[in-house]
Formats: sequence, C-alpha cells, structure tokens
Amino acid sequence: MKPFFISTPIYYVNARPHLGHGYTTVVADSISRFHRLKGEATFFLTGTDEHGDKIVQAAEANGQQPKEYADSISQLFKDLWPRLEISNDQFIRTTDERHKKCVQHVLQQVFDKGDIYFDEYGGHYCFGCERFYTEKELVDGKCPDHQTVPTFIKEKNYFFRMSKYLEPLRAHIEANPDFIQPERYRNEVLSMLKEDLGDLCISRPKTRLTWGIELPFDRDFVTYVWFDALINYISALGYPDGEDYKKYWAGAHHLVAKDILKPHAVFWPTMLMAAGIPLYKGLRVHGYWTVNETKMSKSLGNVVAPLDMAAKYGLSAFRYFLLSEMSFGQDSSFSEDALVGRFNADLANDLGNLFSRSLSMTHKYFGGAVPECGDLQDLDREVLELGQNAMANFQTQFEHFQFSRAIKSLWELIRFLNKYIDSSAPWTLYKNQDLVRLGTVLYVILEGMRKIAVHLWPIMPSTAETMIRQLGGAFDLGGVDLEAEITSWFGLQPGTMVADRSNLFPRQDLEPKAEKPAEPKKVKEPKTPREQAPQPALACPQCIEFEDFAKVDLRVATVLSVDKHPEADRLLILKLDAGEDAPRQVVSGIAEFWTPEELVGRQVVVVANLKPRKLRGQVSQGMILAVKKEDGLALLGPSSEVASGSKVS
Ligand code: MSP
Repeated sequence: MKPFFISTPIYYVNARPHLGHGYTTVVADSISRFHRLKGEATFFLTGTDEHGDKIVQAAEANGQQPKEYADSISQLFKDLWPRLEISNDQFIRTTDERHKKCVQHVLQQVFDKGDIYFDEYGGHYCFGCERFYTEKELVDGKCPDHQTVPTFIKEKNYFFRMSKYLEPLRAHIEANPDFIQPERYRNEVLSMLKEDLGDLCISRPKTRLTWGIELPFDRDFVTYVWFDALINYISALGYPDGEDYKKYWAGAHHLVAKDILKPHAVFWPTMLMAAGIPLYKGLRVHGYWTVNETKMSKSLGNVVAPLDMAAKYGLSAFRYFLLSEMSFGQDSSFSEDALVGRFNADLANDLGNLFSRSLSMTHKYFGGAVPECGDLQDLDREVLELGQNAMANFQTQFEHFQFSRAIKSLWELIRFLNKYIDSSAPWTLYKNQDLVRLGTVLYVILEGMRKIAVHLWPIMPSTAETMIRQLGGAFDLGGVDLEAEITSWFGLQPGTMVADRSNLFPRQDLEPKAEKPAEPKKVKEPKTPREQAPQPALACPQCIEFEDFAKVDLRVATVLSVDKHPEADRLLILKLDAGEDAPRQVVSGIAEFWTPEELVGRQVVVVANLKPRKLRGQVSQGMILAVKKEDGLALLGPSSEVASGSKVS
C-alpha cells in the first residue's frame, strides 16, 4: 500500500484559531484517519507560519518581540488541536532550526541552478498580503483583499525565474486531472496560467524586514514569507535525506482553502521543479465559511471559535456538522441553527435512537448477547445490499474529499435500518416467540451499527469508539479491513455482550435560536399603592444599580505562563488566554500563596475591562478574583473547564 501524506496550510500566528482553521484541520484529520483505516502508512502535518511583516506588526501592536509573540500564538494552535481530536503526526513551526536550514538548502539549490537573479523592481506592495501587486490587479487602486491602498516600493531584490516553469506546469496540470481538484479550481489555475505571471520576487531587504530566513547567498536579505512557508511541507519530512521524506513525499496531498490557491498551485510546483524535487501528488481546495452569510471578521464580532462550538454542542456533533454541511469546494454559511438542526435530526434522532433501540432490544430479547444470525430473508438481503452500496459509495466519496456526499450515503443506511426495525417488527416476533427470526433481525441491525461505527471513526473518532465498545468490542485500527466491511456482513461474534443502554447524543434542549434577540422582559407596572411601596432591598444605601454591575466585564481566562515580578516579591506576572488575539498580562499580588507552577493551566476569573495600569513597572491589564481564607487564598474559577474568554454573568 502506498503511503499517504496530508498537510494543512501552516497558519499565520497573527490571529488566534477560528472556524476556518478548525475546518481545514478537521478535514485533514478525517482524511488521514480514513487512510489509516484503509491500512495505509499515513503522515498528517500541520503547523504555524511565523515570519514576515504581518507577524512583526502584530507583535509590535502587542508590545512584544516577534519570537515571543509567535511562541504564544503558535501555542494556542498547538493546544487547540488535541481538543478537537486532531491527530497530527507533526506540528511544524517556520522558526524551527531544521526548517530554516532546509529553506536555505533549497534556495541555494535553485540559485546554483541559475534560477534566482538580482534585479531592481518597483511595485505596489500590500503589507497585508505581503506581496507586490501589478496595476492591473488592483481594484480602484486598492488591494482587492484588504481594500487598502498599497505602498509603492522600488528596491533591489532577488527573483525566482518562475516564468521558465509555467509552461511545464500547465502541461502537468493538463495531463494529470487529479493534480488540482475540485475541477473549478483546476480550471481557475489553468486560466491563471494563460496570463503572463512573470517571475517571483523572493527576497526582502533587511533594511525593511529582518524577521525572516536569511538568504544563504546574500546576508543583506531575508526570504519572502511564501518561499519560506511552502517549504515546510518537505522540511517537516526531513528533506533531502530524511526517511519520512523518502517514504511519504510521493503520496503528498495538500489541503488549502481557495484564498491560497495561487501560491500552492503555481509558486510551489514551479519551486519544486526548479529545485529538482518531484511534484506533490494532489492539491485539494475547499471554499470559505461565512457566518450567517457574512464574512467572518473581528470588527463584525462574528468570529466563530471552534472550541466554543465543541463545548456547546459536543465535539462529535461539531466535527460532523463541519463535514456534512459544507460541499467540499463550495462556500458555506455557518449558523448555529443549522448545527442544531443537524444535531437533532441526524445525530440524536436517526443515529442515536437507532443505536440505543438496538442495544435495548438485545437486552430485552436476548439478555444482552448478540444473537445468532439465521437464514436471511428478502427483507434482510435488501438491507445488506443497500448497506453494501452505501459503504462503497461512502468510501469512494471520502477518498475524493466529498465528505458531505459520503455522509449522506451512510445516513441512507442508518435511515433504512430504522425503517427495517419498523417493518420487521421485532416486538411481534418476540410476542410470537419466533426467536430464530428475531435473532436474525437483531443481528442484521447490530452488525449494521458496527459497520456504521467503523465508517464514522474518521469523522467522530471518540463517538465511534464508544459505539464499538458498547457493541462489546474494542476499536482496533490494525484489525479494520475496509474492503471486507463492504463485502461481508458477519463481523460481530454471536454471544458478545453489548451495553444495556447508550446515550450518544444527549438532547441538550438545543432549540434553534429565534431570528431576533428576545425582547427584554417588560417590568410589570406597579398597580396598587401596596405594590408601589419601596421594597426593603431597594433601601440599601451601598447598593449599586444592576446597570453598574453590568459594566464589569468578567471573563474566564486560562493561565498560560507565570513569572515572578523582578522588583516585587509579592507580585506575580501572569500571561492569560482570555479569548483574545494575544495573551493578556495581569500582575497580581498572590505570590505569597501561589507558586507559578501551581497556576499554569488553571482557569481564573479576570476583570477584563479594568483600565490597564503599571504595577512596579509592569503593565497589568486587569485583575484576577480571589477569596481570602484563613490559611491562604482561593482563586475564583469555573467548576469545570470552559472556553477561555467565556463571559461570567
Ligand atoms: N500562512 C499562510 C499559509 C501558508 S501554507 C504554506 C496562510 N495562513 S492563514 O492563517 O491565513 O490560513 C489560511 C487558511 O486558513 C485557509 O487556506 C484555510 O485553510 C483556513 N481558513 C481561514 N479562514 C477560512 C474561512 N473563513 N473558511 C474556510 N477556511 C479558511 O494563509
């Protein structure tokens, strides 16, 4: 079997992870799990992109050095992934030494070949995109992505002779329809290639930017961030000599959204050609998530945090929703109402009910043991046939990144099994004591459930494992034979004891939200003189109005790191993740009661809108809440873990 490699883009560290990053990474995780299920050696790579102007600016805005800032945001990504059951094999950072060396190695290779030259260039530079724009590309003189007027910059730089490789690239795309998929993006690239794309500026003078990888052949320049970033896909594998590179590169697939099609479909393959490295096998491109039909943006305040969704609806439901809702390749609008709809209909009703019904019938009729399967009747054969088609189709569609179609196929089987229960009426068979027939019917259902669980593993790993456990087995990746799952219906051992109940998707009173926010409850007008009499509580002289209290913004924050204050023994300097773009620094007088080690990882409550002030020279952006005890100090926090930044109300 050929090894399979899948990568996500490496994400910029200028913003905290959001739904878009979550989606790509969940997709990559699912596809890697699917290939592992097929028995293929699989390598799944993700990471962070940490050099360039963008990061310098974000760090400056946060009063930090680029590396310090990159460390903290990169850590947010790294910490998030296991909580979304992301099973990446490596997390690469472009500030890793091995990566830097590899970039310099490739630059030198291309330079030695004569495909990098020095020239003067004047162009419109967008700092947001970190690239030059031609007059033609600008819209009303502005960057089409950022809507800002670019800066005209004229300077000497190094250029990659990309133009030399554009025709060979076009020929490769024509000859290999599977190279870029879905088709619309393949066509987009082919039409891009009809334009004169020219050469690519691949350096930035150190006079303008130092936060980058130095060119090995000119120490006055650093590498353009894309030339640096794209190489992560091979540096992570240990190019040129690493075993992983030798094993996995031939099976390389990159997963990206449409925003970064050009660097992946044009820059990267031409770079590979110039460096004499074989091209990757496939580029898979998905569309964009919007939120309730509008672009996700910080200023609109509609950025969806993946962890919040997973915490609210359950991780399996969230992953299921992402994969089933978006047609791979097209844009999709995220709405909690749609998520709730799918949760109730597909998960709680169709799947959850079917599963718990099957287990409880097994207990009721056979004391919890999987019955023997007797002779099959036409009705049973119909299930087997439909199941066979559903699973074959699931596997083909999944392989081709058509997740929503794959899931639809599996749900056809789930719905059919629900109908099968009704038409085979096990309760009547039991009443008539037709136990052989009853056993066959239950066997068909339970085996169907087992197959469904196996196929669900790439989508919702822990739920699938729970299902398999409740069916009396244990999930064993090495023991799965996906082909046999299609052709044979007899994986379950009769006599195996199944769980007596299951509640995979507990209803959480998830009702679609009203379109408009609910009107505030009207305060009842006092009618009688008695009702008008002042209530005792209102007489409290120290009391504040509710509106005053509501001004205090209390948030749950997670302690990321703690340092002792260099000038005050009593004070600790805490870096908190309060759900913001960058960690928040709070100076607190708790050193007497808490050691830094005890604090890291804890969740605390912070007054988030307190005016920042300096405490012995260190800025404190807020205050954490604590309660004095006789023997120390208790810190306030939630009773169970919640998403960082959750509002306390
Ligand atoms: N650092 C570059 C990538 C370098 S790869 C060698 C970069 N980083 S990014 O942080 O901006 O990430 C872009 C990627 O994040 C998209 O291609 C996509 O995978 C994901 N998404 C970000 N916003 C998204 C949506 N709104 N919807 C779907 N995915 C999006 O570009």
